[in-house]
Amino acid sequence: MSRSERKWDHIRYALANQQKSVFAFDDIKFIHQSLPNISTFDVRLDHSIGELYLSSPIFINAMTGGGGDRTYRINKELAQVARDTGLAMAVGSQMAAIKDKTEKYTFEVVRKENPSGIVIANLGSEAAADQAKEAVDMIEANALQIHLNVIQELTMPEGDRDFTRALKRIEAIVRAVEVPVIVKEVGFGMSRETVESLASIGVSLVDVGGFGGTNFAEIENKRRERELSFFADWGIPTPISIIEASSIADHSISIIGSGGFRGAIDVVKGIAIGAEAIGMAGFFLKTLVQKGIDTLREEIDRLHQEITLIMTALGATSIADIKRTPLIISGDTYHWLNQRGID
Ligand code: FNR
Repeated sequence: MSRSERKWDHIRYALANQQKSVFAFDDIKFIHQSLPNISTFDVRLDHSIGELYLSSPIFINAMTGGGGDRTYRINKELAQVARDTGLAMAVGSQMAAIKDKTEKYTFEVVRKENPSGIVIANLGSEAAADQAKEAVDMIEANALQIHLNVIQELTMPEGDRDFTRALKRIEAIVRAVEVPVIVKEVGFGMSRETVESLASIGVSLVDVGGFGGTNFAEIENKRRERELSFFADWGIPTPISIIEASSIADHSISIIGSGGFRGAIDVVKGIAIGAEAIGMAGFFLKTLVQKGIDTLREEIDRLHQEITLIMTALGATSIADIKRTPLIISGDTYHWLNQRGID
């Protein structure tokens, strides 16, 4: 099976993948304040994360890699939505286009459609530093994502089995490229230990890519004769992963939350517990493919309106203000954090 066919399988299965709600979001409750003392008109959604200025706390996370005309079409439409709504957008893995230059058009279209937006390049941790530079140049990217996807690879019959030296390669990439590097998971979450290792080599942005949304173990299992069912519920739920990542001693690292975000309340909770921005992949892809580009634009506008309403209720005029909101953490999330000595 070609890389392009495999990636199309991912999209097909991701669309069929019933996103479970991330139970751990229910464990986080805001404490209602009857005197927020602000107006909806005071609320600002723009926010800087490291060197990146974002006009919205949400962004379109990496999706379509693999090349081919279908990738081209989806990337083109996502880029148009990103341009019209002011969202940053990450592309899917560009390795296909680095290995086969005839596939470059499937990614270059993203910059062409959105000349002045924030566009983020993407490769896996198997990439060498010169490939990372090439990926950034290909789309004149403002940042580069390096994804970690050990469980996905292990679940794929033809996947990688050797994960040695990934940290060394990431370190070389961080030194070589001139844009910020975001190291991300793809739906299994990052632990405090992982984030500490990344911070120790100079990574300043991580996207925890937690468990609870698109599930690549389930997706890859569908392509196996004998399923590895033990990986189907493997991973750190997104809210827990955000809190784990935020708990490291090195506060120079900024946290991005992703994995299972669908509604405004999840977004605001994700920020309240430590994320600076929230990535959404499966939900946007599903909306685009099943309901069309206009519905996706409307959905994003609605998310912005609802985030504004929630921030007003919390008395938060800025994204930074959300972090000062008092909240209660209960249930399994509380017990997890307690056992990990995180308060
Ligand atoms: C992805 N994701 C992904 N991530 C990445 O870093 N490089 C990639 O090429 C891809 N490809 C990809 C294809 C498809 C079809 C989907 C749905 C997702 C993972 C994505 O960026 C994200 O980390 C996870 O999907 C979890 O977020 P959601 O989908 O639960 O919002």
